[in-house]
Amino acid sequence: MTVKVADYIERITPYRPGKPISEVERELGIYDTVKMASNENPLGPSPKVMQAIKDDLKYIHLYPDGMAYYLKHAIMKHLARYHLSIDEVCVGNGSNEVIDILIRALVTPHEEILVSAQAFMIYELIPAAANIPVNLVPLTKDHRFDIEGYIERINDKTKMVALVNPNNPTGTYYTKKEFENLLSNVPERCVVLVDEAYHEYVDAPDCPNAMDYRKDFENLIVCRTFSKAYGLSGMRLGYGITTKRIGETFRKVREPFNTSELAQVAGIAALEDEDYVRRSVEMNRIGKEFFYAEFRRLELSFLPTQGNFILVHVGGGEGGGIDCYKALLQDGIIIRPVSNYGFPDWIRISIGLPEQNQRCLVALENYLRKEGRVR
Ligand SMILES: Cc1ncc(COP(=O)(O)O)c(C=O)c1O
Repeated sequence: MTVKVADYIERITPYRPGKPISEVERELGIYDTVKMASNENPLGPSPKVMQAIKDDLKYIHLYPDGMAYYLKHAIMKHLARYHLSIDEVCVGNGSNEVIDILIRALVTPHEEILVSAQAFMIYELIPAAANIPVNLVPLTKDHRFDIEGYIERINDKTKMVALVNPNNPTGTYYTKKEFENLLSNVPERCVVLVDEAYHEYVDAPDCPNAMDYRKDFENLIVCRTFSKAYGLSGMRLGYGITTKRIGETFRKVREPFNTSELAQVAGIAALEDEDYVRRSVEMNRIGKEFFYAEFRRLELSFLPTQGNFILVHVGGGEGGGIDCYKALLQDGIIIRPVSNYGFPDWIRISIGLPEQNQRCLVALENYLRKEGRVR
């Protein structure tokens, strides 16, 4: 007999991650492929993290510390100027899981989450799977979060106000002034969740660090990840900083061992390797300057980015982004089409090493030249 699945689950289109290198090489019979599709760290893992993992392998027959005591202390030390207590730190299998648990633990199907349209996809997928309504605020004309639009949409049902700063896939950000305006207009019964997955890459002086605002708004949650500047996407580790009360609620809902032994050890070592993060950020800065200059030369529209990726307009109408993606795949470059984000003729490129950026640019320029879209 066919299993009956709830309508709200049936309606979900599953998240499609960037294609793994192995799949592309298997399908196309090519090698030396470069993945610039999932905003990972092109430097590879930190050698210090690799060593810590090797040293810890002898413990993997045991369950990890379910409370992640040492990892949480390492996070508290990293954020020492905020004087956090351990109950205010939540960790998870990627920040994705932290966000998932927080949404399910704090919002019911009778309430509402306010989030921007064309923001990172999980803010629509997680509520959909829990039958929680989402109130979408369209982006501004210049592809930024519309903070005034957020304020206008707050209503009696609003329970969570979710923000992604900088946003994926646009790379755009809202300012300190805009954030302060929003916080002063959010009722106290709501939680404000700020996703700062790309925090380490931010270089705009007027971009707020949400941690600085916890004193102004009690129910503020800040989520960060080890997947980007710390180079640990494959380990799956992220964290949320919140109140004791919300932390306690998080612990009721999470599964007992939601971060693995190796992920915990890797996270501690990654926080200690500050030089790796500095090099990652510097590499990213060089890469984005390269793409800015080349896109200007080719007269392509792009969105200046505060993340480790860049959105660029490639034209070609409805299927333009997908066609470009397919063409670049033939050259062994995996980028991300973003039609599912409402950008059908744009692509998102994760910034790589200088030689990868160069290879990607050459492939893109050749393609656009063939299509007659650049002079
Ligand atoms: C804005 C944003 N938030 C959260 C995540 C999830 O990251 P992870 O689950 O790897 O920590 C991503 C991943 O790309 C992201 O772009």
